[in-house]
Amino acid sequence: MHNTKDKYILAIETSCDETSASLVKNGREVLSLVTNTQIEVHAQYGGVVPEVASRMHIENITKIVDDALGDFDKNQLDAIAVTSGPGLVGALLVGVSFAKAMAYTLNIPIVGVHHIDGHVSANYITHKSLEPPFLSLVVSGGHTILMMAHDYGKYELIGQTRDDAAGEAFDKGARLLGLPYPGGKMIDDLAQSGNPRFVQFTRSKIKDAPLDFSFSGVKTQLRHYVEKAGETFVKDNINDIAASYQAAIVDMLTLNLHKTIKQYNMQKVALAGGVAANSALKIAVSKIAQEENVELYIPELELCTDNAAMIGAAAYYMLKQNKKSDMHLNAMPQMELYDR
Ligand code: KG4
Ligand code: ZN
Repeated sequence: MHNTKDKYILAIETSCDETSASLVKNGREVLSLVTNTQIEVHAQYGGVVPEVASRMHIENITKIVDDALGDFDKNQLDAIAVTSGPGLVGALLVGVSFAKAMAYTLNIPIVGVHHIDGHVSANYITHKSLEPPFLSLVVSGGHTILMMAHDYGKYELIGQTRDDAAGEAFDKGARLLGLPYPGGKMIDDLAQSGNPRFVQFTRSKIKDAPLDFSFSGVKTQLRHYVEKAGETFVKDNINDIAASYQAAIVDMLTLNLHKTIKQYNMQKVALAGGVAANSALKIAVSKIAQEENVELYIPELELCTDNAAMIGAAAYYMLKQNKKSDMHLNAMPQMELYDR
């Protein structure tokens, strides 16, 4: 039976190269999640081609939304949620336009969601009892952010990357090693049987902002290393080199996380974003969590990378705080996270 107190949100995510739709009940229960990844198409170009991404979203979105709804009656929906930024503007516009048309036709609220709020909120789905406040480390292809979640959707910035994002560092490193895009998962797999002390990469630190990150240095070190070592040597030792490179990224991430846990005396830590799927990062963070006696939360694998369910989770709490959008909602390639 349909309980009138229950809230059903249809969420849409098209900020990058995944067309995704999801039906989310009360912010924490995923009734359906349908995602079409364009990775294979973009892999041919070595990275996401924005124009191609937009066109593929247009081609796929109707079917993806239909499949996510299944036989659920559209008239029972309480709101439409959509990622309104940050991301590729042409890609975002597809989702935003589609969501606006649906909300208009059904005469229900539309909620524009910040993509990073979505990534963090994936934890609410996997961990039903998790509530703010907690510390969050968001590590994706476009972002590396250490922040405090004071309340649902209310974040305070602690540290961020000065150059590349952690996922970008993985992908660019993979490319230098001759691996296909996106290389994060591939480096993770190769590193399983590699020696992380094979190459000693320097871990960068930022003097005036000790909780910020920088990954461009380790990428440059890898480039020099590969140029010097030569293709054959790199191929023969790919597992060890991948493990060493991964260890450098993981060390830099966890060093700042550890410092912050101690400095702010946090009880709960939540990882988020595609790189949260990295096995070495998970192990390293678990160790710190045990040492510092904090509770660690990581979304299930499917919810770490881009998906619409996380957008539905974030939107549920926005609706509760009456943070609705209207027909003026637009795609925001850059979007403020910390002023709400
Ligand atoms: O969050 P996400 O799906 O997209 C963005 O919002 O950026 O993250 C994608 C990133 C890519 O850079 C990808 O290489 C990385 O997450 N990634 C991983 C792993 N799985 C995905 N990086 C390291 N290890 C993994 N297992
Ligand atoms: Zn993302």
